[in-house]
Amino acid sequence: MSRPYQPSLLRLLHGITVLLVPLAWLTGLVVYSNNDGRFGRLPFRLAGDWIDLHGTVGVLLWPIALLFGLYALTAGRARLRQPANATTLLALALAVGSGKFMQEDWLRDGQVHHLAYSLHLGAWLLIAAVVLWHLATVLRRGGISLAASMLQLKVRSNDTPLQWPAQLIRGFRRYV
Ligand code: HEM
Repeated sequence: MSRPYQPSLLRLLHGITVLLVPLAWLTGLVVYSNNDGRFGRLPFRLAGDWIDLHGTVGVLLWPIALLFGLYALTAGRARLRQPANATTLLALALAVGSGKFMQEDWLRDGQVHHLAYSLHLGAWLLIAAVVLWHLATVLRRGGISLAASMLQLKVRSNDTPLQWPAQLIRGFRRYV
């Protein structure tokens, strides 16, 4: 079976997201373990300013998530008919959105009762579950060749960065 082709803008935004989400998730795990730990902690303590590190990953992730969301809702809309794709995007939006309402000092001061923090913790759990679901769905629908199509580097001559604005505008026009 020939490998499906994924649009280059999707591969770029999806690729950066796939690098940053696990980084955000893992640094978030360390922050939770070091500064909260109500439901259990890691068996070891990692020294360092993990809140700062997690915040930095978050600062990098949110504009990418915003662009990815814009892409997915316009040019990538047809793919959002897949429930696992749409739910993964929603979980990402919840994680990034609730993170924007967090304040760095809350966890340093032991304040774990804020609504934004509870939502952010919930989103952290949710994103782990839905990314696994998303990956399982991709593998079930198209096997390794569909998963690998998201990682390939080949770009068709009619899908270069010059065509990206037109792709987004075409996707947007389908709404109006
Ligand atoms: C890390 C977190 C991830 C997030 C937030 C995420 C999010 C998404 C979203 C929102 C879409 C739909 C894009 C659109 O509307 O055009 C999508 C599609 C896709 N993702 Fe991911 N993804 C993640 C991880 C992965 C991983 C690890 C793989 C495996 C290589 C993967 C493979 C794919 C494929 C093949 C599609 C296209 C599926 C289709 O045609 O329906 N994703 N992803």
